[in-house]
Amino acid sequence: MNREDQKHDLEEQSENLAGITHRILVMSGKGGVGKSTVAVNLACALVDEGFKVGVLDIDIHGPNVSKMIGQKKRPMVVEEQILPAEVMPNMKSISIADFTNLDSPIVWRGPLKANAIRQLVNQTSWGQLDFLIVDAPPGTGDEPLTVSQIITGLRSIVVTTPQEVAKVDVIRALNFVQKLGVAPIGLVENMSHMKCPECGKIISLFGGNAGEDLSRSFSIPLLARIPFDPQVAILADEGRTISSYMRGSELEKAYRSLSSRVQEELMSQ
Ligand SMILES: Nc1ncnc2c1ncn2[C@@H]1O[C@H](COP(=O)(O)OP(=O)(O)OP(=O)(O)O)[C@@H](O)[C@H]1O
Ligand SMILES: [Mg+2]
Repeated sequence: MNREDQKHDLEEQSENLAGITHRILVMSGKGGVGKSTVAVNLACALVDEGFKVGVLDIDIHGPNVSKMIGQKKRPMVVEEQILPAEVMPNMKSISIADFTNLDSPIVWRGPLKANAIRQLVNQTSWGQLDFLIVDAPPGTGDEPLTVSQIITGLRSIVVTTPQEVAKVDVIRALNFVQKLGVAPIGLVENMSHMKCPECGKIISLFGGNAGEDLSRSFSIPLLARIPFDPQVAILADEGRTISSYMRGSELEKAYRSLSSRVQEELMSQ
């Protein structure tokens, strides 16, 4: 990107992002650990507390947010400004999928991806938001790199699962966000354990303690340990969220507690 482009981006951005208080990137070095699930359900937990939240899905190759969140409305484009659709009161969401054909694979190289994301960020008119939550694809590639360059004041939540093998990939993600100045608010360990539906015993599904180990070695908070529950995948496929459809469950409590921890950490860090 040349200087003029950069300046233009920052000028547009300052208008479109100016009304957003906190900007959070949800990422991980590893695929399938629950980044999109965490992004969507953290957003809902924040909305439940009365905040205005936007969710931005930048996963070009596997955009899932619209489906998980039950988003049926399309964004409107008015005079080169993208107006994200309201998913529910106080929540707006936009996905790169809104501008692509979901059934055909996208074979964009780095610069094309970066351009698409830049355009989406710079031209989306969010209005006033307390939180913008950005859902990234797995890994440390062009997508998280691009948003870290263009969204000022971006912080991160890094998602892991408990097993040892997740650590190597998540360490890479933690080093990546630290290097780019996208300071981690903390870690979320997803699918930490499961409560046996028959006897209530806590089962460690994967073994390992990656969340605590990484929290210790990087001196960052472990914000939540979220249990595994088969219901999560079923709800996600139906576009239903945990806070609306699993009221009173361990999962819902874990997300409420995650939402409080994120707010505490943002106040104190
Ligand atoms: N706590 C949980 N309990 C049970 N299933 C879960 C939990 N969290 C996520 N899942 C399920 O695991 C699958 C992967 O989750 P998700 O798509 O959020 O991961 P991801 O990290 O965003 O994946 P990708 O790397 O492809 O973007 C989904 O089917 C989701 O519903
Ligand atoms: Mg995802």
